Amino acid sequence: MTGGERGPLAAFRDYEPEVGRFEQDVLAGLAGAAKSLPCKYFYDRRGSQLFERICTLDAYYPTRTEMGILRAHVPAIARRIGPDAHIIEYGSGSAAKARILLAALERPAAYVAIDMARDHLLAATTALAREFPEVEIAAYCADYSAPLEIPAPRRRRLARRVGFFPGSTIGNLTPEEAKAFLVGVRRQVGVGGGLLIGVDLKKDTRLLDLAYNDPDGVTAAFNFNILVRINRELAGTFDLARFAHYAFYSAEHGRVEMHLVSLTDQDVRVAGTRFAFRAGETIHTENSYKYGIDEFQALAGTADFVEGTVWTDEHRLFGLHHFVAA
Ligand SMILES: C[S@@+](CC[C@H](N)C(=O)[O-])C[C@H]1O[C@@H](n2cnc3c(N)ncnc32)[C@H](O)[C@@H]1O
Repeated sequence: MTGGERGPLAAFRDYEPEVGRFEQDVLAGLAGAAKSLPCKYFYDRRGSQLFERICTLDAYYPTRTEMGILRAHVPAIARRIGPDAHIIEYGSGSAAKARILLAALERPAAYVAIDMARDHLLAATTALAREFPEVEIAAYCADYSAPLEIPAPRRRRLARRVGFFPGSTIGNLTPEEAKAFLVGVRRQVGVGGGLLIGVDLKKDTRLLDLAYNDPDGVTAAFNFNILVRINRELAGTFDLARFAHYAFYSAEHGRVEMHLVSLTDQDVRVAGTRFAFRAGETIHTENSYKYGIDEFQALAGTADFVEGTVWTDEHRLFGLHHFVAA
């Protein structure tokens, strides 16, 4: 790990989350009976750019809906969170939602952004630190699925910790993984801490199918980018023309599944290992679980997050939940 201050940031810690792991995880995912790749590897520089474009698409309702809920209710959310908070954001991306939150909070003490996408993380947090010089802003380039020590802010050591996990990124985890993740957050924020988390709600299948199959093909390009990255970084030989983007809502699992489907029988090499594909065989690249409000509150309760309050939009597309750590 390397660390220290960087520009206006109170701290930058680089845990080098991908060193060696990318190759290991890709080879393991492609070797399985049902091929899969971890969705955290979508986010290299180009993947982060593509995700930001997805967020602006008409078809992709989650970002603008969550932003709308946040803007409309941020005074009430700030009151629930209370003064002197130490906000810890998991998968901070552009940190656009943190900006709205920090502006509304009473005397926020500190903000820690955790993200694997190093360049995106540094650009977003540096801009934020310039805007909020009175808040200790730190950037951790790390995988949030592994335990992480986060020290107390230097100036206000007793600040109450509040986990922030917008974007329905929790939906990328299976319910079992989501529970384990929430237990980790609960441990990190401590008794009396909080959690503000955005969760996409179950809804009309057509809206979900459209959101993940936008007419401009940006989501498809985002999905394909993982193969581009494997070709570049792991000497992969994926021929993109011989795969197709495939995303659909599975009512059985309560999730949108994203896949790359092989259009022919073909062999692909990655880091010197050969993988055989049959025509129609898929690589499962992402899940996006959808939850009812009660269903999510029950899940959070299993991790000792209680006193749930939820804000939603007029069409009940998306829920922004606040919990207290028991
Ligand atoms: C769906 S985006 C959400 C971004 C932002 N929070 C929002 O609400 O728009 C997920 C973000 O989490 C990051 N990410 C995904 N998996 C991660 C992991 N395991 N550890 C750290 N960051 C991760 C990605 O780089 C990306 O910036």
